[in-house]
Amino acid sequence: MHLITLNPWSETDIFQMVEESLNLKKYPEKYRHAVGGKSLCLLFQKTSTRTRCAGEIGITQLGGHAHYLDWRTTNFALADLGDEMRVLSAYVDIILARFLKHTELVEATAAATVPVINGCCDKYHPTQALGDLMTIQEHLGRLEGVKLCFIGVHNNVCNSLIAAGMKVGIEVTVVAPEINPAAVDKELWDAAAQKGLYKTLDTDTPNISPALEKVIAESDIVYTDTWVDMEFFTDPSFAEERERRLKKMAPYQLNAELLEGHACKIMHCLPAHHGYEITGELVNDERSIIFDQSENRLHSLKTILLRLLAHA
Ligand code: CP
Ligand code: NVA
Repeated sequence: MHLITLNPWSETDIFQMVEESLNLKKYPEKYRHAVGGKSLCLLFQKTSTRTRCAGEIGITQLGGHAHYLDWRTTNFALADLGDEMRVLSAYVDIILARFLKHTELVEATAAATVPVINGCCDKYHPTQALGDLMTIQEHLGRLEGVKLCFIGVHNNVCNSLIAAGMKVGIEVTVVAPEINPAAVDKELWDAAAQKGLYKTLDTDTPNISPALEKVIAESDIVYTDTWVDMEFFTDPSFAEERERRLKKMAPYQLNAELLEGHACKIMHCLPAHHGYEITGELVNDERSIIFDQSENRLHSLKTILLRLLAHA
């Protein structure tokens, strides 16, 4: 059993994991020896603060051990992917992998003989979405019927929110004048739309403001994420595209003016780029539940580790 996308996981699995995560947060001491010396390897091609720390600290708090591997300092960088994954599988009990490309993650997972968790690829970020569900349950006391709008570039985080929302009855409206090419997943979008749990706002209009205002007014939660994924942020070959996006996305920035008079909660997976997709003021606004979201990555990842190790 792996966690690469949320799609194959059942509704019951997801609801149970949210409940278990809340329990784990409340009674961490009950889980101190829960994994009895098991080892987690974190294999990362990209940078990370939350996912890495949640994995390393989470397994330690469960009585296990973490081993971090920066891809670039290993022979993964030059050897056969399948060979290296088989070797890693012989050393550890579970792997948390952050790959650039979803396709490569799938290939690596096929060669692994222990559970693999997707720690964020270019298409999905399932561990983020599970932590987000936990945070929504914590703050709104329910998941079913919650209205969430994602404003920004349709990306990995947005896809996993749609996939998670579809399992628990969250209605996701996406306001995204840009879609990351790697994030296109028509099958997921169609399945969620058929359940009435995913729709998009037409952004191809000269004045988006009234429609945007209406969506925000109808939403319990307004969520955003970076306009440029981390691997492209300092990539010189992406510089022109980055400038184009910053210009195009400016009207979609979450700021005090846009959210004035709205009681919605504000979410962001972090890292945030203050002054771009969100202002620093809103990150710290009283409606913001962003830092609970980031804390909950720890508790929810512990739940994921427990569940996958129990099935291994
Ligand atoms: N939200 C998230 O995954 O953060 P990191 O990239 O810091 O892990
Ligand atoms: N969507 C962003 C943030 C993930 C935590 C990215 O992939 O860089």
